[in-house]
Amino acid sequence: MSETSPIDALRALEAEALEAVAEAADASALEGARIAYLGRSEGRISAILRGLGSMPAEERPAVGQEANRVKSVVGEALEARAAALQGGSAASSEDLTLPARGPWKGGLHPITQAIDEIWDIFRDLGFSRARGPEADSVWYNFEALNTPLDHPAADEQDTLYLTDSVLLRSHTSPVQIRTMEAYEPPIRIVAPGWVYRRDTYDATHTPAFMQIEGLVIDEGVTFVDFKGTLAEFARRYWGPDTEVRFRPSFFPFTEPSAEVDVKRVITRPDGTREETDWLEIMGAGMVDPAVIANVGYDPERYTGWAFGMGPARIAMLKHGVSDLRTFFENDVRFLSQFSS
Ligand code: DAH
Repeated sequence: MSETSPIDALRALEAEALEAVAEAADASALEGARIAYLGRSEGRISAILRGLGSMPAEERPAVGQEANRVKSVVGEALEARAAALQGGSAASSEDLTLPARGPWKGGLHPITQAIDEIWDIFRDLGFSRARGPEADSVWYNFEALNTPLDHPAADEQDTLYLTDSVLLRSHTSPVQIRTMEAYEPPIRIVAPGWVYRRDTYDATHTPAFMQIEGLVIDEGVTFVDFKGTLAEFARRYWGPDTEVRFRPSFFPFTEPSAEVDVKRVITRPDGTREETDWLEIMGAGMVDPAVIANVGYDPERYTGWAFGMGPARIAMLKHGVSDLRTFFENDVRFLSQFSS
């Protein structure tokens, strides 16, 4: 039997080890190959490294160098094979230079967006933001707002009562009373919030919905301020060409009362311009002196105006949504259209 040099023996071992690694079909076979060649106690390459000490001094450096090279080549092959086994065939076919998929981001609900946009405009016009409780008393929800309890709105068929005198507010108007009780004029607030009604869930009604209340009270506030401010809001929201119309209406807490309509000018993608129909956007009016007296202000000294609008309706008009329910069903395919 002819003597093979330690270097030749190492190269033969390298070839054998690489073959064993390449043939390892799963993680445990691969671990077997690692132990057989690089294992601390039984590994055949490790054994050669350990035996260096008893080798003639002149052979030691070359054999040591080769043994270390083989050890690192086999070590790399083991790692590459482990990665390939883990990723299946993907490791070789996937283009790792492609840009990564971005993280999934949530977005603001379209009704929240409408509230934020409306609030931004009124904030620029000098308003503050106010809020009140969703469970409130008949006094705040009706009586203080000059609405007698035999009014149809106060009927159990329309309003959700928790007890005889406590209810889920049917509009945000009670925030007018609570704000006037808590502060002295001048008052300029908007108050967004949930309101509740005994309504059947359909394309235009939900039993819980958002409203935004607005209230201005000061000395010398006139009908001109009322119309001018709301027209300014509409032009800032829908564009400078928007027309605004005040239609006489009735609310117990305002006198005179109006329903406010806007007519928008839409620019089509091809550049042509088109006017919409008149769209109702809110109820509003000059605050009834009886309401001002109910909070202890002097109705001879203070006047004001108020409005209530539905941001869901405004979001429907803005996005051309025809069924209110789609806003509440939380189908991400629908909602993600509104996130930027
Ligand atoms: N509270 C009324 C409603 O829910 C809306 C409303 C009308 C609010 C006129 C007002 C107002 O502040 O002045 O139908």
